Amino acid sequence: MQNLSGRVAVITGAASGIGLAVARLCAEEGMRVVLADIEQAALDSVVGEFRENGHDVIGVQVDVSKYADVERMAHETLAAFGKVHFLFNNAGVSSGSTVWETTLEDWDWVMGVNVMGVIHGIKAFTPIMLAQDEEAHIVNTASIAGLIAGPSMGAYRVSKHAVVAISETLYLELDQNGSKIGVSVLCPAWVKTRIFESERNRPKDKDISTTTDPLIAAQLESSQQAVLHDSISPEELAEHVLDAIKADRFYILTHPKYTGAIAYRMRDILNGDNPRNLMTNS
Ligand SMILES: NC(=O)c1ccc[n+]([C@@H]2O[C@H](COP(=O)([O-])OP(=O)(O)OC[C@H]3O[C@@H](n4cnc5c(N)ncnc54)[C@H](O)[C@@H]3O)[C@@H](O)[C@H]2O)c1
Repeated sequence: MQNLSGRVAVITGAASGIGLAVARLCAEEGMRVVLADIEQAALDSVVGEFRENGHDVIGVQVDVSKYADVERMAHETLAAFGKVHFLFNNAGVSSGSTVWETTLEDWDWVMGVNVMGVIHGIKAFTPIMLAQDEEAHIVNTASIAGLIAGPSMGAYRVSKHAVVAISETLYLELDQNGSKIGVSVLCPAWVKTRIFESERNRPKDKDISTTTDPLIAAQLESSQQAVLHDSISPEELAEHVLDAIKADRFYILTHPKYTGAIAYRMRDILNGDNPRNLMTNS
């Protein structure tokens, strides 16, 4: 999809970080934008900022883990703008700990937002795009953690591998039926956002995961430091996303430093070697 001006974007997780940067770039390209997020106050402030800058936007408060919310967002999108051309399934949360210490509530929360949130977006919006029969594009946010192996944050890694698989399947299905809908999967490493403050959106009734393993605790700390000090800006990342839409490129890899790790994983699998930690920050 080359020309974005006048078209309609729907962006989840739009009140912060990557979602907000992509939303700003879409608006600058002349798109009409549906800004969707679970955090009402942050969303209100972002909607105000966009309107002050003369952009045509609506805000929709949504919990992407609930299909009824995402379906309502689709209705509100059509009521406001009549169409949808770009869906960015981006809202996500992270949680730490080992696989065995991660609470069942955390598995539910992370999989609910990161995996079911993407599935809900695809389920609600793909039929609308197919019926429109116009050029459109869906981008799902995974992570480099969806392509390689590493210890800690197991629920997050599992969720991101699932997003890669969902995206590849969706791409192949839409491609073989000759639709005009492109698909991409976004796989960044560290981006300077509030991802390690995901707790702010954790449902109050869910037990938090902790770890007694000092190595895992150190790796979590190192990841948090990497987001702060070894990261790219959300604005730089947003450029990659819009470039990929325009070029109809499926895999959006934004951190050359980590792409070699993907080859190592594939080679380990083919050689019958055991997994190694490919997510070191050095
Ligand atoms: N920051 C990184 O280093 C990094 C790296 C790889 C992938 N990602 C992915 O990027 C995506 C965006 O995260 P970010 O880094 O911008 O973090 P962020 O915390 O700054 O933004 C995430 C946004 O999602 C919203 N959100 C959380 N739960 C939600 C829910 N249930 N329904 C709707 N909205 C919800 C939050 O309110 C927030 O505005 C996530 O999927 C994350 O996993 C981030």
